Amino acid sequence: MSKIKRIGILTAGGDCPGLNAAIRAVSKPAILKYGIEVYGISSGFLGLIEKEYINITENRLSGILTLGGTILGTSREKPFKKSSLYLDEIDKPQQIKDNYKDLGLDCLVCIGGNGTQKTAYRLSKLGLNVVGIPKTIDNDIWGTDTCFGFDSAVSIATDAIDRLHTTANSHRRVMVIEVMGNKAGWIALHSGLAGGGDIILLPEIDYREEVVADFILKRMTDRHGATIVVVAEGIRKPSNVSAGKYISDVISGLTNLESRVTVLGYIQRGGTPTATDRIIATRYGTAALDLILKGDFGKMVALKDDHMMTIDLEKVEGKLNLVSPKHKLVKSAKSLGTCFGEKIHLKK
Ligand code: F6P
Repeated sequence: MSKIKRIGILTAGGDCPGLNAAIRAVSKPAILKYGIEVYGISSGFLGLIEKEYINITENRLSGILTLGGTILGTSREKPFKKSSLYLDEIDKPQQIKDNYKDLGLDCLVCIGGNGTQKTAYRLSKLGLNVVGIPKTIDNDIWGTDTCFGFDSAVSIATDAIDRLHTTANSHRRVMVIEVMGNKAGWIALHSGLAGGGDIILLPEIDYREEVVADFILKRMTDRHGATIVVVAEGIRKPSNVSAGKYISDVISGLTNLESRVTVLGYIQRGGTPTATDRIIATRYGTAALDLILKGDFGKMVALKDDHMMTIDLEKVEGKLNLVSPKHKLVKSAKSLGTCFGEKIHLKK
């Protein structure tokens, strides 16, 4: 029998498809194979501050593999950040430490994005046994090739782009679609490539408004009916306007062409996970349980070239996985003639 008697598990930060699959993959073997109790902490780190949790039983896990969102709830509570959302008057890290002890937890599984892994690291420095599982639709967690949630978001965004093509062609319009990705443009890059976007704008590649406009005008004179512009929400833009609206206005202002904008928003984070995300989440969950059983804490599970690895939370903290302007998908898109809005440097 394992020395571990009770595991706490929480989901923190923005939700994404696959969270329940990960909860199930940690909990099912823990309960059924190893006789470990699993406490599901409510609403991310907030639940640890307020001692809100549910006892996860086999029954609670039934039917959740395919379910979007998180059965535990989530929040953006950052216990180490002053002037956070709630309960600012108390020493939250100390409260978490006390509650971890009161609840009799032997370890804590933190499923989340960059902020969550950072908090997980800081809690491990306070002496808690922590294991991290990376999730985010943005795919921007450093140290792993991929996070679950991303594939589902890309497939939703690609489907939206496919649909925009037909209406754009019918009206001979410029269609701008804004997808999520504040710092990292992975969703825009992947869905832009998969959906045949003519222009893809990413936070990591600085664009020029005139280059975008000239590209579209040239397409119109080349008798293309319509243009699809895929924009990540975090591109350079004035703060009072959304990225999609800004680019759409710039295009109609500079080209006199009709441009329409679609902001995909939270649709990208909702609903059923793809098969790929269910598999990634399940692999991460079972790998996290393996770490727990070995007593190997302070680590995040990660995928590198499809191999399951672990990485010290300390190494993940404060870093981001961003799109390199030389990334193979950027190159591939460019060879198809996709415009990234960069200033063209003429060879002398
Ligand atoms: O989860 C990451 C993310 O989807 C970002 O792409 C987006 O900027 C952010 O969450 C918005 O989240 P919320 O409005 O829930 O804080």
